[in-house]
Amino acid sequence: MALPKPGLLGWQLPKPGLLGWQLEDEIRRLKKERNAILLAHYYQESDIQDLADHVGDSLGLARAAQKATADVIVFAGVHFMAEVAKILNPERIVVLPDFTAGCSLADGCPPEAFRHFLDAHPGHTVVSYINCSAAVKAMSDIICTSSNAVKIIEQIPRDQPIIFAPDQHLGRFVAKQAGRDLVLWPGSCIVHETFSEKKILALKLRHPDAELIAHPECEESVLRHANFVGSTTALLKYAVTSKADTIIVATEEGILHSMRRDAPQKTFIPAPPEDESCACNQCPHMRKNTLEKLYLCLRDLEPRLELDEPLRLAAKRPIDRMLEMSTGV
Ligand code: 13P
Ligand code: SF4
Repeated sequence: MALPKPGLLGWQLPKPGLLGWQLEDEIRRLKKERNAILLAHYYQESDIQDLADHVGDSLGLARAAQKATADVIVFAGVHFMAEVAKILNPERIVVLPDFTAGCSLADGCPPEAFRHFLDAHPGHTVVSYINCSAAVKAMSDIICTSSNAVKIIEQIPRDQPIIFAPDQHLGRFVAKQAGRDLVLWPGSCIVHETFSEKKILALKLRHPDAELIAHPECEESVLRHANFVGSTTALLKYAVTSKADTIIVATEEGILHSMRRDAPQKTFIPAPPEDESCACNQCPHMRKNTLEKLYLCLRDLEPRLELDEPLRLAAKRPIDRMLEMSTGV
């Protein structure tokens, strides 16, 4: 496959005046030309979700990346997700539209500090949420996502002490579900921490028949009012099958696009953040990806994920363990 070369002035911008639908056509054309697969997370803007070959949660997207046969994987999500795709596909080109699309959980768990934390708790099995860097994965025994975390913890012998990182709220939720004590790294998601218990309760008073569904990255003060707690895919499935006509959704609001598409007769209300004047229930990292950047990364096959082989292999081991331990999820 011939790769484009950067011009003298660097990578060119899309042709000025390209309209939304023209960009979409160009993206479809380039996807074919490059033999590329587009994986998108539910938190991506709706236009990107609609163009994707596979929309999913972190586990679903890791599995889709594992099965990929295309020459190029375009990952419309955040950096750690594209990194997982590269860890599983060293021979394929993996690009993401905006290389700076990080994650407050991954950024809040620097590898050096994590090493000190592990040294302070010797003899523990280290279970890390997939929202972390390759370097943190390489120091972990097993990776988990929000859809398999409980199942994975339950498979570890009860007398074995466990460190859970980097999301303390997911860790607390899992500890409660599995009836285990976990040593928690004190990280959190900037989006899920903004939901306000007080405002959600006020909303429930205005919609007495509404159900509340929440992602386990939310604080316990929100989770305790939820009719259902689950990963983004689990929330979507629940939203479609629940008998409730109105559902309050406590997770990033991008998922409402898939919910409204799959259950158009229902009313979905985004859970309110504490400060309702901000768009705090949109992940600023996920939203860095735009149609324009998606077009550019397909055209230029940049920015690319690259990993040193020893780091890739060390980070792959706990991901493989997760995939082995999550059959049936
Ligand atoms: P899921 O695995 O549920 O998609 O969660 C990913 C994420 O980043 C949640 O904030
Ligand atoms: Fe990270 Fe939170 Fe954004 Fe998910 S929503 S990618 S956990 S910052």
